[in-house]
Amino acid sequence: MNAASRTRLNQLPEWTALAKHREQLGDAHLRELFAADPDRGGGYTLQIGDLHIDYSKHLVTDETLQLLRELAAATDVAGLRDAMFRGDKINTTEDRAVLHTALRAPRDAVIEVDGANVVPDVHAVLDKMSAFSDKVRSGEWTGHTGKRIKNVVNIGIGGSDLGPAMAYEVLRSFTARELTFRFVSNVDGADLHEAVRDLDPAETLFIIASKTFTTIETITNATSARDWLLSGLRAGQEAVAKHFVALSTNGEKVSDFGIDTANMFEFWDWVGGRYSYDSAIGLSLMIAIGPEKFREMLDGFHLVDEHFRTAPAEANAPLLMGLLGVWYGAFFDAQSHAVLPYSHYLSKFTAYLQQLDMESNGKSVDRDGNPVEWQTGPVVWGTPGTNGQHAYYQLIHQGTKVIPADFIGFAEPVADLLPGLVAQHDLLMANFFAQTQALAFGKTPDEVRAEGVPEELVAHKTFQGNHPTTTILAGELTPSVLGQLIALYEHKVFVQGAIWNIDSFDQWGVELGKVLAKRVEPALTEGAEVPGLDASSKALVAKYRELRGR
Ligand code: F6P
Repeated sequence: MNAASRTRLNQLPEWTALAKHREQLGDAHLRELFAADPDRGGGYTLQIGDLHIDYSKHLVTDETLQLLRELAAATDVAGLRDAMFRGDKINTTEDRAVLHTALRAPRDAVIEVDGANVVPDVHAVLDKMSAFSDKVRSGEWTGHTGKRIKNVVNIGIGGSDLGPAMAYEVLRSFTARELTFRFVSNVDGADLHEAVRDLDPAETLFIIASKTFTTIETITNATSARDWLLSGLRAGQEAVAKHFVALSTNGEKVSDFGIDTANMFEFWDWVGGRYSYDSAIGLSLMIAIGPEKFREMLDGFHLVDEHFRTAPAEANAPLLMGLLGVWYGAFFDAQSHAVLPYSHYLSKFTAYLQQLDMESNGKSVDRDGNPVEWQTGPVVWGTPGTNGQHAYYQLIHQGTKVIPADFIGFAEPVADLLPGLVAQHDLLMANFFAQTQALAFGKTPDEVRAEGVPEELVAHKTFQGNHPTTTILAGELTPSVLGQLIALYEHKVFVQGAIWNIDSFDQWGVELGKVLAKRVEPALTEGAEVPGLDASSKALVAKYRELRGR
């Protein structure tokens, strides 16, 4: 459907029907919804690949789900999805195709951009990455002095950092433990300092990850890393070739920096930064887990891509998860969405999803540039359970806000856990199940009284419950399962952007800050006059200079 011809979302009859249904639902409690439908527990579930998804603890009925699917049909989510998979330029503000799904397509697939099949290029880069990873892992690739590489430092930011850094953590138990991996993103020199201070430059490989190769943080850190390396080795520019590789779409800038393009691993403008860690941007991860496991991860992504592309609406998990988010944002005024993994290895998972979701759907104009009159992307937040339970869960349980949450857990602990620690897994998972139960069903005043609680404390000890959650349970945290999870969230974000009629694939909102930073820097260093600097910022800059003794 042509976006321009689209009826405004909140004027669609399907939207009005949902609003009316929301009114009818009123304060219906999950306790009542479960009591009314004995099959709800096992019935509101989906299985995709290894992911068991339970959505029974949501404030929905069969009718809600039907109405939501009708909204998806009216906004032609399937049409935009097919256009994405086909390689149409659905990122209209940048005139680009959106083809991260091609990064995990099988070798014999045909996906065309501007008439050319991109799949052979994808596999050529994967093969080049595999050959390079094998060389580093086996010790065949040595540094300038002939020493074996023992440390890999990825320098990038945003999508060129969060994905590989997150996935490295998630898959730590599959990594070559004899190698050290560090991820540097912040332009604060402390980040690079802490990453390299105990490393031997002769044994260190820097991977400079930047789609554009113009991002100031990355280029600044890469330049400092090069200085650190060359002074540590007491070598000239000729040492760079053995210690620096680049991951980029911009060969010219890579070569301007002094990295031979033979040591560049390419990707393409149809891969968005936040959708890129399964491209060449994943090189550090591939070195860590090996090419075979990396490909298993890609297969996991592909499995969910195919599910999203082909499963009927009733059984389509990303569609369902996207619709639930639309439901809460529009009709419950939910402002945020918590993602709470019950796996320590997923400690960076939610931070990764923040960019995926908030950079994609943090928009307030529709595809035609008109202001939207409905909620768009939520604030995404969360840290691994059980830590959050002893920090902010109080607000989820008894605060005043509606916070839909995803709970992600695994039946098995990771394979190489010390045998003495395996027993702790059941305790972790007991918390996992207990929390969603408490959030959904709470504790009534009568139940509190029955425990002998004095009347003046009853209100304090009552849990209202009715807090919606999705439970995602898998057998084991493997590379394939990670791929499945990421693709699930990618497509969930897609569904929501399609319904809200926004461009989920641009990020103009980050530009203004970058431009202003460039203008302000000379004011800090040289006291230069910055035209147009507001009074508050001017005073702060003056204070900063005073504190620095300038
Ligand atoms: O500024 C935002 C952004 O463009 C992200 O979208 C991107 O992931 C990040 O910066 C890094 O960009 P690059 O890979 O080009 O250095």
